[in-house]
Amino acid sequence: MPYCLGLQTAAEAFRSISLATQFTLAVVIFLIIVTIVSALQKDGVDSPPSLPGPSLFAIWPFFRRRYDFLNWGFHATGQNTFRFNLLGNNVVVVSGESARQTFFTAKGLDLTEGFKILSGAIPMVRGVTSDLQTRRIQQIHKRLANVQRHDRLSELIPCILEDSRRLMESWGSAGKFDPFEKVYELTFQLTIRSLSCTEIADDPVAVAQLKKLYDELDTGTTPATVLLPWLPTPAMIKKLLATKKIYDIVAKAIKDREQSGVHHNDTLQMLLDSGDDRLVVVGFIMGLLIAGARATGTTASWLLTFLGGHPDWRNKAAVEVQKLLSASSSDPSQPLSKRLASISLETWESETPVLDSIIRETTRVAQPHTAMRRNLGPDLYIDDKLIPSGAYVIYPFSDVHLDPDLYPDPWKFDPGRKEPEGVPYSYVGWGGGKTMCLGTRLAKVELKLVTAMFVLGFEHDVVNASGEPMYPLPTPNWNDILLCRPPQGSFSLGYTKTSVVL
Ligand code: HEM
Repeated sequence: MPYCLGLQTAAEAFRSISLATQFTLAVVIFLIIVTIVSALQKDGVDSPPSLPGPSLFAIWPFFRRRYDFLNWGFHATGQNTFRFNLLGNNVVVVSGESARQTFFTAKGLDLTEGFKILSGAIPMVRGVTSDLQTRRIQQIHKRLANVQRHDRLSELIPCILEDSRRLMESWGSAGKFDPFEKVYELTFQLTIRSLSCTEIADDPVAVAQLKKLYDELDTGTTPATVLLPWLPTPAMIKKLLATKKIYDIVAKAIKDREQSGVHHNDTLQMLLDSGDDRLVVVGFIMGLLIAGARATGTTASWLLTFLGGHPDWRNKAAVEVQKLLSASSSDPSQPLSKRLASISLETWESETPVLDSIIRETTRVAQPHTAMRRNLGPDLYIDDKLIPSGAYVIYPFSDVHLDPDLYPDPWKFDPGRKEPEGVPYSYVGWGGGKTMCLGTRLAKVELKLVTAMFVLGFEHDVVNASGEPMYPLPTPNWNDILLCRPPQGSFSLGYTKTSVVL
């Protein structure tokens, strides 16, 4: 009875306080419960060791300093597999060759489920980008394959070059820029062009607005918005508003197209002509725009930064493209974008060993990806450690791409380095095993065209905040999980236009 009275008094006291205080109190109680529950969870004999310290301390560094946090975890446990608790979610971090092999091939490990809970940057619209049924996801993937069919991708080449010309011309004859702004902006435009519709891609204001909204989603992804999505924090509200605005822009474009009856040769038309339901069309554009734009933007920004700091590789890339131009049937008096458009897709894909090795090295050293999966069952063992059904498993790419045994002097950008031989999944820049990047073909062509335009249209180098040539060169910051970006303002790319007409 005294307990009942106590509870009743507590309930009355709770009711009498303001809504904001009730809310804060509820969150605090929730966090305390989670902490106690996770502290009570005991490691079984075959469980990976847990991180020392209260589980709440893992949340912030997991989202804000992931590279340091995961390295610290391996160090603190002295093991190559460890686990931690992320607000009630059991997360196992694995490393090493055999773990990597199981991770990339195990049947029960699911990317979509892992990504959904642990990443959180994709706009979540119920039934559109979240809670997608397997059938819808497969449909979206099938359409993505269609976009990259030989004929479609060939038709995209001149459009990509024309967009590149327009934006590069807007940079003027000389200056300096932050690649994570200007190069990112360019690749965002190209991704919109490739994956959405002419009406948006031809409207610089709409593209800028979409980019701003997607940036808001990225920066609005805080530990709280991922793990406590029901909590109406200002960041969450901002994120929801941004998602709604993106949805409205895409939905309007679809409606306008349907009502106008005008036919365009673009991805939206292909989706509509395929008779897909509205959710597949919106889900395709909203979800893939962010998946495609971010990875391509990061890679392109770093690629041009590396070339700015390595004139020998810049020169090799320029010579390779010059050779392709000389072998093509293009008229030398034509602008560069038109001449490059006359080079066939086959040539871009199979006769550019220098560009290929530059892209590979960039995705090795400057792609701060942590692969995330959920074990959909049954229980699984990785390196004799139990991954229970329902648990999350993550594999940081740094484990393999920055391993000095596989890549001596791993932070060095060296496209000429020998590829490791006989080591399974020693390079996973485009995925591995049962999860391969489904946008590889498009991304590689975009990267090659942008690089070709830039190395022939401009001279460039890396400069520090005072505009002087920079040494040492900037190092990728793996703690920035989106762009691998070093402190803002620490460097720029200085450029001068060549005499070549873009
Ligand atoms: C330089 C650009 C890109 C890089 C380096 C890249 C890299 C990757 C990697 C490493 C994965 C596997 C992730 C994992 O195992 O956790 C992946 C998956 C994926 N990528 Fe990309 N990507 C790029 C561009 C794109 C583009 C442009 C698109 C879409 C147009 C795209 C669509 C996807 C999709 C849909 C998946 C998931 C595949 C699945 O569910 O099985 N990617 N990407």
